[in-house]
Amino acid sequence: MLSNIIDTLVEAPIVSSFSRVGYDVRSRTEDWADTSSYDLTGKVIMLTGATSGIGLAAARQFAACGATLIINGRRDEKNDVVVRELIASSGNDRVSQIAADMGDLDQVSSLAAQLLADHDQLDVLIHNAGALSAERRVTSTGMEATVASQVVGPFLLTNKLLDRLSETPGSRVLTMSSGGMYSAGLSVSRLEMNEADYNGTEQYARAKRAQVTLNEMMAARHPNIAFHALHPGWVDTPGVDDALPGFAKVMGPLLRTPAQGADTLVWLASDDEPLSSNGKFWHDRRQRSIHKLPSTRSSDTPERRNKLWDWVTEVSGL
Ligand SMILES: NC(=O)c1ccc[n+]([C@@H]2O[C@H](COP(=O)([O-])OP(=O)(O)OC[C@H]3O[C@@H](n4cnc5c(N)ncnc54)[C@H](OP(=O)(O)O)[C@@H]3O)[C@@H](O)[C@H]2O)c1
Repeated sequence: MLSNIIDTLVEAPIVSSFSRVGYDVRSRTEDWADTSSYDLTGKVIMLTGATSGIGLAAARQFAACGATLIINGRRDEKNDVVVRELIASSGNDRVSQIAADMGDLDQVSSLAAQLLADHDQLDVLIHNAGALSAERRVTSTGMEATVASQVVGPFLLTNKLLDRLSETPGSRVLTMSSGGMYSAGLSVSRLEMNEADYNGTEQYARAKRAQVTLNEMMAARHPNIAFHALHPGWVDTPGVDDALPGFAKVMGPLLRTPAQGADTLVWLASDDEPLSSNGKFWHDRRQRSIHKLPSTRSSDTPERRNKLWDWVTEVSGL
């Protein structure tokens, strides 16, 4: 009861909720299991964006808990360095890597094929790879890169792995979104920003909004797999330093550590509680609304959702 009241007080102002303050207060006042206490031996976990920041912190925890872990980043050499570090620090040699740019659909298909060839079960698929790009970039097929790598590529990967996930009891698909999506409505025609109006923060928010919407839609279609999305709060990572140097400087002491930013992700992958619900959005181990503003809530119509589904199915080539 007391922890519910405290959570509500901390959640209301964004600064206390998203910053290290939210993590500190909640982890002290709620009865959180230590993430290092989970035994993940025998669980197969695929984690994208594991070479840096939040993904790297999560990878360290999964390896230490004994999981069979497949990590992803864009470059073989960088991934190999991380694999060696994870094996050395955890003593768990069931760690491997598959390189792929999540915005390149051919590479995503190859990643899925390799994973299916190497593993006959898949307990957890985690879409964590992501970045906010100040400059507009496009993929080789002309798609805006934020949308390609954080919406279309992950959608394709999940679909390619659905059968393996369905065959694995208690499987989960987790998507790392962002509190930034609270500012963006759901839009398909305006999902990819063009050269003239491109703004990195806005583009990122639109992609992250699409992620949480698709999370709910996947859960409704595949109730035998637990789909959950989450936001990590504000976390001190190389990604934040690169994308928002001013923010990182001002917020410095208030930013969460990567391990704190990875806490709910690791918990969603490891604990039994997330298996009793589906299609939810989480922050600090609690379900949260996907809307804070009336304007984004009113944009989230069944028609737009169907349009998003049709569009992403078509562009991912499914
Ligand atoms: N830090 C925060 O405050 C914050 C807040 C809200 C949400 N998030 C989300 O949390 C996730 C991790 O962010 P972070 O802050 O930890 O960032 P980070 O330190 O920059 O790490 C990003 C990771 O994603 C990988 N990556 C980026 N683009 C990729 C692509 N196209 N294909 C494959 N891998 C790619 C990078 O790998 P390589 O460079 O090796 O390819 C790296 O491992 C992102 O989804 C981000 O949007 C972060």
